[in-house]
Amino acid sequence: MRLSLLAGGLFLSIPEVVLGYKTFVVPHTAGKDDVPAIRAALPKYSSDATILFKKGVTYNVFTPLDFGTLKNVEIAIEGNITLPTNIATIQASVAAPDYPGHWFKMRGTNVTLRGTSDRKWGWVDAHGQAWWDLIEWNNRPYGWDFGVTNGVLKDMKLWKPIAWSFDLSNGTNIHAFNNEIQARSNSKSFPFNTYVATSAFASTPLLIFYLHFFYHRTHGNRDGFQAAQGPNILIENNHIVNGDDCLTVRSGAKNVHFRNNYCEGGHGLSVGSLGKGGTVASVDDILIENTVMVNQLYGARFKSWTGGAGQARNLVWRNITVTNVAFPIYVTQNYYDQNFPKPNNTDNTSTGIDGISFIDIHGTQDDTPGYTEGSCVSDPCWYAVPNATGKEIIIFDLYPGTAKNVKVQKINIRPKSGATPRVMCDPTTVRKLLRGSAVNPALI
Ligand SMILES: *[C@@H]1O[C@H](CO)[C@@H](O)[C@H](O)[C@H]1NC(C)=O
Ligand SMILES: *[C@@H]1O[C@H](CO)[C@@H](O)[C@H](O)[C@H]1NC(C)=O
Ligand SMILES: *[C@@H]1O[C@H](CO)[C@@H](O)[C@H](O)[C@H]1NC(C)=O
Ligand SMILES: *[C@@H]1O[C@H](CO)[C@@H](O)[C@H](O)[C@H]1NC(C)=O
Ligand SMILES: *[C@@H]1O[C@H](CO)[C@@H](O)[C@H](O)[C@H]1NC(C)=O
Ligand SMILES: *[C@@H]1O[C@H](CO)[C@@H](O)[C@H](O)[C@H]1NC(C)=O
Ligand SMILES: *[C@@H]1O[C@H](CO)[C@@H](O)[C@H](O)[C@H]1NC(C)=O
Repeated sequence: MRLSLLAGGLFLSIPEVVLGYKTFVVPHTAGKDDVPAIRAALPKYSSDATILFKKGVTYNVFTPLDFGTLKNVEIAIEGNITLPTNIATIQASVAAPDYPGHWFKMRGTNVTLRGTSDRKWGWVDAHGQAWWDLIEWNNRPYGWDFGVTNGVLKDMKLWKPIAWSFDLSNGTNIHAFNNEIQARSNSKSFPFNTYVATSAFASTPLLIFYLHFFYHRTHGNRDGFQAAQGPNILIENNHIVNGDDCLTVRSGAKNVHFRNNYCEGGHGLSVGSLGKGGTVASVDDILIENTVMVNQLYGARFKSWTGGAGQARNLVWRNITVTNVAFPIYVTQNYYDQNFPKPNNTDNTSTGIDGISFIDIHGTQDDTPGYTEGSCVSDPCWYAVPNATGKEIIIFDLYPGTAKNVKVQKINIRPKSGATPRVMCDPTTVRKLLRGSAVNPALI
């Protein structure tokens, strides 16, 4: 498989930016925003440099920090960073016309963004708890835009990030490892949060529940796609506690390998959503493996919009351990905005699938009667599946003729109540699939 090339050689060619360049030690002024001083220094330090947030200091990043276009630069976060604690202050920056789209942003070539292995320092604290407690979804900041070419993202530690964490959109040749996201709520409120979005054009990524309830208020024009050149992304050994997709792979992504990660509390390992508003989506060669999923709404998940177009090719979820996951394997080509009537989609179109495999997915399903997940604020919940019993370990909601080379192997998932696991598929579709593909009939 082509993907193995990715692990085998490609990433060896990503240079770690070496020390020995000129170093800018970010200055700090108590009670003041430290961003203007960084901005003033950038013309001198945006190539062949280290920008160091030093240990022993808690820096104030009170306004969005756009590092601009960097070349051979390491950003080292060895001190702590705090965002404003005041929600309205952040919202005003996010709403401002010059908002760069993320609270932290960098572009360029040969860029390392790293934290430190020191457990006491290197934390970026966004004070998300107050936002979660208020269910405040307006003008939430996206964390980190790391859309660079030849990037290393490692040892970063995010403490209560408000919403989305790392966005690798438009990045090429990126190795992200040993990062830690701690979006764990210490109240009953739910930490809406996403770890990674990867795509060629996900500049305004939306969450599903966000779509459902805030569609009109927040939906910007996201058209203007065309699958860009593949990003080549390797994401491994990360510890992710959050409240939305652990991984989101969107249109334009190519050669994404996600392995040996721990994900807790969120919405699964997602490819999609694809093909919104009839758009042509394209995703190729995605391998998600050796990952542990704890207390998640979904495990392995694919979603494309009803009425969409394009193709998703060669998607593999392999060796995934699920613990207390409500929808362990979930595929829909029939995704739609539940704020509106279900589109008729008389042509039965959606983003096509050519090659989707679920291999060695094992563990337990949360089939607690009346199960509701933290992001549910409506009745029925946005994730409700009509006629499902809550014991379905696999749900395939496919259109006839739009999916081929579907493979399901070595599935061993038990509802934790001890009930018999169920599988839900559209029988017409599955009968067609069974001719010439490897869906295990015993499972259907
Ligand atoms: C990036 O690093 C590689 C390897 O050190 C080097 O060959 C290349 O010239 C660098 N790219 C830029 C734009 O400096
Ligand atoms: C750095 O920030 C984290 C998260 O807010 C905090 O737990 C830690 O105590 C801080 N470190 C120091 C040395 O203040
Ligand atoms: C990625 O690139 C596309 C196409 O050039 C652009 O429209 C989009 O805004 C970019 N996304 C980000 C996050 O910069
Ligand atoms: C499956 O993944 C686990 C990590 O979740 C890893 O320890 C184990 O070695 C993997 N098994 C195989 C066969 O790769
Ligand atoms: C779907 O078709 C029905 C019957 O033709 C029509 O009443 C309904 O408005 C259509 N729904 C949408 C969302 O177009
Ligand atoms: C779409 O699917 C429906 C329901 O399966 C079927 O009745 C209809 O003929 C299909 N339409 C086309 C154009 O294939
Ligand atoms: C749910 O089941 C009922 C009864 O079998 C059936 O009439 C209905 O079409 C089903 N709904 C969906 C969305 O599959």
